[in-house]
Amino acid sequence: MINTVVEAGAEALTADALDPFIDIEEEINRLRREKNAVILAHYYQSPEIQDIADFVGDSLDLSRKAAETDADMIAFCGVKFMAECAKTLSPNKLVVLPDGEAGCSLEDSCQPEDFKKFREKFPDHLALSYVNCSAEVKALSDIIVTSSNAKSILDQIPPEQKLIFGPDRHLGAYLAKESGRDMEIWPGTCIVHEQFNERELVKLMVRHPEAKVAAHPECPENILKHADHVGSTRSLLEFVTLSEGQEFIIATEQQIIHQMELAAPDRTFIAAPGPDGTCNCANCPFMALNDMEKLYLAMLNEAPRIEMPEDLRLAALAPLQKMLDMSPTQQVKKSVAA
Ligand code: 13P
Ligand code: SF4
Repeated sequence: MINTVVEAGAEALTADALDPFIDIEEEINRLRREKNAVILAHYYQSPEIQDIADFVGDSLDLSRKAAETDADMIAFCGVKFMAECAKTLSPNKLVVLPDGEAGCSLEDSCQPEDFKKFREKFPDHLALSYVNCSAEVKALSDIIVTSSNAKSILDQIPPEQKLIFGPDRHLGAYLAKESGRDMEIWPGTCIVHEQFNERELVKLMVRHPEAKVAAHPECPENILKHADHVGSTRSLLEFVTLSEGQEFIIATEQQIIHQMELAAPDRTFIAAPGPDGTCNCANCPFMALNDMEKLYLAMLNEAPRIEMPEDLRLAALAPLQKMLDMSPTQQVKKSVAA
């Protein structure tokens, strides 16, 4: 796999050498001004990172923001494949990420050479790939989707067209069921969403009979079948803000609850439980690698940063641009409870 992350050099300031008395927040704000930087954060980042960001969003929103911004530097607080998307869409900008090791289990499950062989087995099929994959896998795909536009993009593809979908098998199964289409699905999973436990969820629902369940489509079917609403992180946020109800059980990475509490402070949000009845599983270990100190150092050192060969970037850009062109500009604002 091509490494697209350039780590800081020997001359860079390290966390160990950082003055313990500096005000990190103030320093990030100073660098943001001085370097004309925009800070983009995914909903799964820690509350302090979400609070300092210029924009917090889901994968699709963040791609759009990265494509539109006139900043010189994009400080991307999320995981590597997201920062790669930003660089692919905005090649002339410096794209830094706080921790260059922030990967994704879905990306790891789908190595480009294996995906290439998978594609070759189905020569008549169009390859629809979830954005949670490497630039190399994107370059081998026809159209990229995110959890917020996958269904509407699928609906624009003629029904007779055969499809492969990767790398998330739960999102793939959900889309196949929703659209009634048969797809060849890559068997990857998100280590966060596959941990939710149906038995524990049902016990929680019994204790909170009025609570509505909001779930991300990366969850397995035995969790999704209990959901009042299934959607991308932004769609879940809209659901808990706009639908009726006071209590919501949230089956996705729990850091999103921060935005939910900001948007609807009078409502109660309960993290869906993991296998042992706690919600500890609902923390993405990759997203959690980022912190304020690392964000500051990345902006200061201009590394870790994304760099990729131009031929790879152009090959990844084509299916990514197709996704943006096929995405509804106005997302559905209101969700319907089942
Ligand atoms: P969305 O932000 O598109 O909902 O995706 C969630 C996710 O798992 C990102 O890694
Ligand atoms: Fe990947 Fe899952 Fe983490 Fe998202 S939450 S970055 S899909 S491991």
